[in-house]
Amino acid sequence: MPRTSRIPGFYRLPLDERLKVVKEFAGLTDEEVEMLRNSGSMPLEIADRMIENVIGVFHLPFGIGTNFLINGKDYLVPMVIEEPSVVAAASNAAKMVRAGGGFKASTTDPVMIGQVQLTNVKDPQEAKEIILGERERILEIANEKDPILVKLGGGAKDIEVRVIDTIKGPMVIVHLLVDVRDAMGANAVNTMAEAVAPYIERITGGKVYLRIVSNLAVKRLARAECVVPKEALGGEEVVDGILYAYAFALADPYRAVTHNKGIMNGVVAVALATGQDTRAIEAGAHAYASLGGRYRPLSTWEKDENGNLRGFLEMPLAVGIVGGATRSNPLARVALKILGVKTARELAEVMVSVGLANNLAALRALATEGIQRGHMKLHARNIAIAVGAKGDLIDKVVERMVKEGVIRMDRAKEILEELLRERSAS
Ligand code: MEV
Repeated sequence: MPRTSRIPGFYRLPLDERLKVVKEFAGLTDEEVEMLRNSGSMPLEIADRMIENVIGVFHLPFGIGTNFLINGKDYLVPMVIEEPSVVAAASNAAKMVRAGGGFKASTTDPVMIGQVQLTNVKDPQEAKEIILGERERILEIANEKDPILVKLGGGAKDIEVRVIDTIKGPMVIVHLLVDVRDAMGANAVNTMAEAVAPYIERITGGKVYLRIVSNLAVKRLARAECVVPKEALGGEEVVDGILYAYAFALADPYRAVTHNKGIMNGVVAVALATGQDTRAIEAGAHAYASLGGRYRPLSTWEKDENGNLRGFLEMPLAVGIVGGATRSNPLARVALKILGVKTARELAEVMVSVGLANNLAALRALATEGIQRGHMKLHARNIAIAVGAKGDLIDKVVERMVKEGVIRMDRAKEILEELLRERSAS
């Protein structure tokens, strides 16, 4: 059977069956499956080494986004999130995008920026020229700190120097541009920024204070685009509704931030599953959304010449598949194995596609029936299961409750009893 992420009815399968499907898809070992099943897979000793003052381990649900076809490759996408509907929404949108050929995603080189803050120079412009003149030596000092990264084709590649006005007077800000390959890169960049600082002080006579990575990773961008056939969305009116939603976000920061929150639902869920620094990703995304001087939606939506919907998302994504929690958290390693990504760039390409999928799902729901209906369905499903419905009776109880608009335990129980009575009578 071809390896596909298009698994109709995946959500209806019992949990063990779902695990079986994912095991087969990703070639998981029995031990890895056990880790997922037991959810307490991070031993306390590991947690105790990761942060300080540990007293336990905190769990979140680990779901699978289905139907993702990205650059012609099928992905089952691990998503860790507390919010209902996000995984279903991503899978649903991925199915619609699939009907249009899937996502096309790309990334720039994984270049992070390290900032060195130089103060107390007499002539900032002259200091800037001096620093630019010493570019080669500065890069050499930086790269001496990480020969392995350099061997892998990464390392400090360039510098930029900016003079900025501040409430403490002008400052010279040196940007060290570091290709961090498959790492998130903050450690490598911080080490290099600290290494070059004394040299920069020496050649300029100034005083360096901060030496730290910038989370506004504008040199490390991920992009995804998709064309969704209007039929897959439910017709041209739905396309128009989505374009109205986009126009609203473009014009109004109050809406843009919620629009982007919908994108981050998908991005952060994959980030959590794969052990990323989600705060760095969030901070970078929102700063990027404001770069033009006004907060704007990260995605764009338009209608193509055939009336189909075309979407595009571009955002900075500083993610890694080596080091950090990706190494220390055993479930993050399992998540990366399920994804089957070979590089940090590929991981970013998946994440930006999932972000676009969640954005599409949210806009489609908002522009049509509203999002509460989907939420209610999920809520109703949980209630049906909680009162003991099994197999096809779950859907029947859900259907009745949603139709009646009454989603409560007592009503679910009554409906279930009725259905069971009918069944035993027939
Ligand atoms: C909810 O988590 C996300 C949405 O608010 C996103 C949006 O409004 O576009 C539905």
